[in-house]
Amino acid sequence: MLEITDLTIRYGPFLAVDHLAISVGAGEIVGIVGPNGAGKSSIVKAIGGLVQPKSGRLTFDGTDLQSLPTHKRVELGISIVPEGRGLFPRMSVDENLVIAGDPLEDRAKSSRNIERCYEMFPILKERRWQPAGTLSGGQQQMVAVSMGLMSDPRLLVLDEPSLGLAPIVIGEIGKALRWLGSHGLTVALFEQNAKLTCSVADRIYILASGAVRHHNRAADLLKDPEILDHLM
Ligand SMILES: Nc1ncnc2c1ncn2[C@@H]1O[C@H](COP(=O)(O)OP(=O)(O)OP(=O)(O)O)[C@@H](O)[C@H]1O
Ligand SMILES: [Mg+2]
Repeated sequence: MLEITDLTIRYGPFLAVDHLAISVGAGEIVGIVGPNGAGKSSIVKAIGGLVQPKSGRLTFDGTDLQSLPTHKRVELGISIVPEGRGLFPRMSVDENLVIAGDPLEDRAKSSRNIERCYEMFPILKERRWQPAGTLSGGQQQMVAVSMGLMSDPRLLVLDEPSLGLAPIVIGEIGKALRWLGSHGLTVALFEQNAKLTCSVADRIYILASGAVRHHNRAADLLKDPEILDHLM
């Protein structure tokens, strides 16, 4: 579904992503695990059209993304949950979801999608009139994931959803991602948290200094956890 080849991203002289190749097949959950500064957010931004790569080819279902602005990529079915969540803190949970559903231009569908998010995260329904910025970190991440789902994506790209969250809350996010995967959504999970990623993903790329160092099935990596310590 998503094919990235030869992706290079530079910030001035600094090489952030170096001839990277990753792919995400339809129906897969693919994890891209890497430490601080490995290039995760840069790749996510390149997928979203928010950074101009120095080189590389990105295709989605065979369509070349290169010349497409962000909103066209959303229309194709790519949705990004950015690092830091990207929600509007003074607006209510409900308003955040309505705004995220705006591109659908279909209020009935948008309302159905909101209800679906509330089924997945019942705590958000309880808090739906509360300013999003007053929720706990975990609940804010649930809002961010829900916002990402409002455009009815086929591919959900998440940039470090576990950032700053307590282990129990990370577990809940993991559960939600597995649930989405089991319902056919394709997911690309960019994470520093290898444990979360292994518990969710089918396949994992391990990233360091902007390049893939290792690639394996999550089940095989779990059998050999030292490899994660060694590579990250
Ligand atoms: N706008 C920028 N200008 C200059 N350098 C940048 C810029 N954005 C990122 N970098 C550098 O590129 C490298 C990769 O950054 P990136 O944010 O993609 O990594 P990351 O894996 O998302 O890290 P983190 O886990 O901290 O979010 C880092 O060394 C970072 O300092
Ligand atoms: Mg990042």
